[in-house]
Amino acid sequence: MSKYQYIAPCHFGLESVLKQELKGIGLWIESTEDGRVYFSGDESALARANIFLRTAERVLLMVGTFEARSFDELFEGVKRLPWEEYVPKDGCVLVKKAASVRSKLFSPSDIQSIVKKAIVDRLMAKYGFSGRLPESGADFPLRVFINKDRVTIGLDTTGESLHKRGYRKKQGEAPIAENLAAALILLSKWTPDKTLIDPFCGSGTIPIEAALIAKNMAPGRNRDFAAADWGHIIKKRIWYAAYDEAESQIIKNVDLDIRGYDIDGTLIRVAQENADMAEVEDLIHLERRPVSELGRMEESDLQGTIITNPPYGERMTGQREIERAYMELGDGMERLGGFDSFVITGFPDAERFIGRRADKNRKIYNGMIKTYFLKFGGRA
Ligand SMILES: C[S@@+](CC[C@H](N)C(=O)[O-])C[C@H]1O[C@@H](n2cnc3c(N)ncnc32)[C@H](O)[C@@H]1O
Repeated sequence: MSKYQYIAPCHFGLESVLKQELKGIGLWIESTEDGRVYFSGDESALARANIFLRTAERVLLMVGTFEARSFDELFEGVKRLPWEEYVPKDGCVLVKKAASVRSKLFSPSDIQSIVKKAIVDRLMAKYGFSGRLPESGADFPLRVFINKDRVTIGLDTTGESLHKRGYRKKQGEAPIAENLAAALILLSKWTPDKTLIDPFCGSGTIPIEAALIAKNMAPGRNRDFAAADWGHIIKKRIWYAAYDEAESQIIKNVDLDIRGYDIDGTLIRVAQENADMAEVEDLIHLERRPVSELGRMEESDLQGTIITNPPYGERMTGQREIERAYMELGDGMERLGGFDSFVITGFPDAERFIGRRADKNRKIYNGMIKTYFLKFGGRA
């Protein structure tokens, strides 16, 4: 079996969780950079990483890496790579994205077109075409990133980003990405024997991801990936084996106490539909309830974990309401003294309005938005 190098991009700040996940599925980690973990494995690693990883954004198959400070060097470097080993005669190469930091070459559109030209040149010569490539077969999307003049090119084996599990058909105004929600749950060290509450659950992402983790349901078990049609790299039977492995690992009977509340009744209905799609509807209690009610009822006797993503954008609610929501969250956390609380937010004054300093504060980049993941320890 051939051994490949892979790259798994993730949210900045979540590399350590992704590494844990890769180790957990038995894959070999090579190195880590900001927002990326490199690992290696055979073809089955490609299928298993796509199907099992909860916190990665996608899985790239590394084609090569080299230095380039000019477009000529970029062209020659790309042309030297053995594209015919990856792309068949009728393959359609799509340079989906180019990103560059601290490098001489920086224009994404120019980088994309030079890379495409160099690959086409190489494939035309190798396959003996003149004129143009047929490009009538499977898509081969690829991504280029340049860091300090070092170019890395990877084939995107995933296609539609891994955070798209397939269950979230509808969502609210500011849903949290599914892979970020999963990472927060893993970082919180919540275990399924404890109650989990999300008092601002919106379309239900955090409760649904928690139920999937508790049931050991692989996030990619119901979806397809770009590399499904790359028969010369990975055989169908390897995909089938990975999907079968995912099914066989599902824990049948779990007793869970996962609760999602939101002030918006329409969103609670959306969360219910999403939970249904994710096949965890019977494991989550969803209810319309404002955060001012948090911990007022039987919940105050419980031990557990709050993981939540309160509103913070001006777009959603006015500044006053946001401040009030954080104050009410703080009061609820006080009533739920036995709970550890984890809050992801871009609101810089979150601690002030919650009324407590966080015990831990981790910076996580949600795209370009800087967010804080705050931990408030409960009473032991
Ligand atoms: C950032 S969104 C949460 C998104 C959610 N994590 C998801 O994936 O869809 C914040 C949510 O807080 C809810 N919200 C705002 N004020 C509230 C309040 N006082 N009590 C409870 N929920 C509130 C909004 O309806 C919204 O759904």
